[in-house]
Amino acid sequence: MSAREQGPPVRDADILASSGAQAAGEAAAAVRRLAARELPAPAAVIVLGSGLGGLAQRIDDAVRIPFHDVPGFPMATVAGHAGALILGRLAARPVLCLAGRFHIYEGHAPQVAAFPVRVAHALGARTLVVSNAAGGIRRTFTPGTLMRIEDHINLMMRHPLAGPVQPGEARFPDMSRPYDAALASLAHAVAREQGTRLEVGVYCALTGPTYETPAEVRMLERLGADAVGMSTVPEVLVARALGMRVLGISCITNAAAGYTGQPLSHDEVIESTREAAGRFEALVEGVVARL
Ligand code: HPA
Repeated sequence: MSAREQGPPVRDADILASSGAQAAGEAAAAVRRLAARELPAPAAVIVLGSGLGGLAQRIDDAVRIPFHDVPGFPMATVAGHAGALILGRLAARPVLCLAGRFHIYEGHAPQVAAFPVRVAHALGARTLVVSNAAGGIRRTFTPGTLMRIEDHINLMMRHPLAGPVQPGEARFPDMSRPYDAALASLAHAVAREQGTRLEVGVYCALTGPTYETPAEVRMLERLGADAVGMSTVPEVLVARALGMRVLGISCITNAAAGYTGQPLSHDEVIESTREAAGRFEALVEGVVARL
């Protein structure tokens, strides 16, 4: 059994050694070898959230590299996550698609959750398009609503930049503009052209794996959150520390816990993304076309 098949590393020193800038450079070199072709700098790295993996089918000339073939990547475990890095062209632009991600609720460190973004950066990506499935805190959000993430609240209580400062990064990175204003305008222009409603709101990240209690949902509402999920923030924090531009899209899959009286289930989450996936894919493709 290889080290990667034994589950997440547990010692801080192991995690930091295997998920920093140097490890990302090594992983990027391995990806170049595995792709066995000339790789142009991606116009964007696109992270596909639960149930949103269909975008990968729109990628032309695709090379698919399973996550477990990339040094430093652990195995993806959650149903609905394909777990592969896909290189190819979307709307004729070179892209790198991360179909699946590593979550803190799986036992991964936040540094590991953000590691694929470091690898994308090492492969030349300077724009991150990140997506997720999220619960709707704002009362008017119904399943299938697409929300552009305007800002976020990190309630994961853990940070992907904890540890030694990586080369070229600041000890205390600015987070006054986590999401790029020009990409936001572009997303809204594309959404308008496509007749897609694109809401704007604040995403709050918790570690999970439990869904929230009704009291927690009331707390999040008072804190100013519009959507809640268990991902995205580690990737965005690292992307910003690396100076990347970020566009974030949440697909609201369910009313937050306690709003409807119904229990939440992962199957329901995946089912609701199916309906919104087409609009999400067209939106991201339209944005990438104009990067
Ligand atoms: N809470 C947290 N994460 C989620 C939810 C939710 O209601 N829906 C989809 N991901």
